[in-house]
Amino acid sequence: MRKNFGAKPYMYPMPVLIIGTYDESGVPDAMNAAWGGICEADEIMLCLSESHKTTQNILKRKAFTVSFADRAHAVECDYVGVVSANKEPNKFQKAGFTAVKSEFVDAPLIEQLPMAFECELKKVNEDGLIIGKIVNVCADERILGKDGKPDPAKFTPICFDAANGTYLALGDIVGKAFSDGLKIK
Ligand SMILES: Cc1cc2nc3c(=O)[nH]c(=O)nc-3n(C[C@H](O)[C@H](O)[C@H](O)COP(=O)(O)O)c2cc1C
Repeated sequence: MRKNFGAKPYMYPMPVLIIGTYDESGVPDAMNAAWGGICEADEIMLCLSESHKTTQNILKRKAFTVSFADRAHAVECDYVGVVSANKEPNKFQKAGFTAVKSEFVDAPLIEQLPMAFECELKKVNEDGLIIGKIVNVCADERILGKDGKPDPAKFTPICFDAANGTYLALGDIVGKAFSDGLKIK
């Protein structure tokens, strides 16, 4: 027997994306977004409420960064998801984040979060979804493996469990993509 939950956004895994933006005066903001993902090889989609300071910032500055929340900063990343810069102008600083201007786009990277996309606003589609062009991906050298690629074991990205309202740490490697399935082809 299966239990039916109706129409709920219960997806596993859901990301914990931290969107970095500047407002019109250059004040940085960060917000937590679970409703987003890759929609082309160089494009990312975000579903952001119009009222958020972040959304207003993206529309004004035409750029944003997308960092991945990690285990070490789960509390700070949740904070930027429950407090708005519309009400707390000092939000970014209060979260304990340090803004570093992206070399590629008009938006801040977050020094404490070691991996991020740097994006230009491509368009807002007819449903209000924000589509960004990924201009660059950057990762702090400290999280790179011997092969020079990001090593999730070195920064432990977290995901959002929408059904239980919790954050989960990404963990073990359990298989080889595009390869393990060939065994039963
Ligand atoms: C786990 C989590 C996921 C969230 N996902 C989204 C999302 O996908 N879209 C959205 O509009 N708001 C989302 N929020 C809410 C915003 O992060 C929150 O309203 C934030 O205060 C907006 O900040 P700002 O006004 O400074 O931009 C999420 C919050 C949490 C805690």
